[in-house]
Amino acid sequence: MAKSSSKNFKVPRPFLKWAGGKTQLLLELEKRLPQSVLDSGIIERYVEPFVGGGAMFFFLKRNYQVKQSILLDINPELILTYRVLQNDHLNLIDKLKDMEDEHLHKSEKSRKENYYHIRGLYNQQIGEIDYSNYGPEWIQRAAYLVFLNKTCFNGLFRSNSNGEFNVPFGRYKNPKICDEVNLKYVHEALKKTELLCADFAHAEEFIEEDTLVYLDPPYRPLNSTSHFTGYSSEGFDDEDQTKLAEFYKKMDQKGSNLILSNSDPKNHDVNDNFFDELYEGYNIQRVLAKRNINSKTSGRGEIKELIIRNY
Ligand SMILES: C[S@@+](CC[C@H](N)C(=O)[O-])C[C@H]1O[C@@H](n2cnc3c(N)ncnc32)[C@H](O)[C@@H]1O
Repeated sequence: MAKSSSKNFKVPRPFLKWAGGKTQLLLELEKRLPQSVLDSGIIERYVEPFVGGGAMFFFLKRNYQVKQSILLDINPELILTYRVLQNDHLNLIDKLKDMEDEHLHKSEKSRKENYYHIRGLYNQQIGEIDYSNYGPEWIQRAAYLVFLNKTCFNGLFRSNSNGEFNVPFGRYKNPKICDEVNLKYVHEALKKTELLCADFAHAEEFIEEDTLVYLDPPYRPLNSTSHFTGYSSEGFDDEDQTKLAEFYKKMDQKGSNLILSNSDPKNHDVNDNFFDELYEGYNIQRVLAKRNINSKTSGRGEIKELIIRNY
């Protein structure tokens, strides 16, 4: 399958909608790739420690020759689904096709019932799944997750403190639950890719001189009066941002090429220099981007994002 196809031929692309997805920022990120990558079109090794929906990874796979990739995320459900696409994509596609057929033949009222039925089955499975050992039951779990992501309100992944998926039903006319063509390209893209469910710090062992590393950690959250709280429901607080900056410095010393994106606290408080201080001495730029679905407090208008590079 095509690896470095035209930029408009948009496969592979993210197979899930993901909070903080970076599709809106891709062209700004691309302009800032290392010159050697822009000139040669080749990335020998790519590491993404907060992969989420993988907008940047899939973009690079579409447009560059990425020889080897290592993707990490702390979310076990997400990594489970990536690994099913890597190992068992045809079985996953069969399950999704059946789920799509069944769902789309129902009335609106029955679709809603079906959604809550599947959400219930998905939540019942918690505790039965062994996330550290790949097994055939992973395929059904991945199918549930893709189904829920495509049919839930706003299309995102959110769990309560018990790990239960708790997003309500979303009204869509014709949700594309099984995007077979894209899923096949995603499977291709995941060849020569290592997937790890782990904290970002575990990426260290894969990063060496000239490795391209893209870091897109969870946003620093705002409270209702638009101030940064430093506390994140995703468990990524200011202390974690500080640890990440230390990690960044260590990886800089290894000679890797680092690109980090983050929300700009100056959107809400011009005097907030949190990231300017953490990454002092690096190449800090501010670019305009459209807010994605993870913003509850600041609407969906244009905001500034930070792009921080060590080159
Ligand atoms: C802003 S999102 C990344 C979005 C991604 N760039 C995309 O295009 O979809 C941040 C991701 O970091 C993950 N995460 C949170 N804490 C983490 C940690 N300590 N180590 C690794 N991943 C973490 C979350 O599960 C989430 O998927």
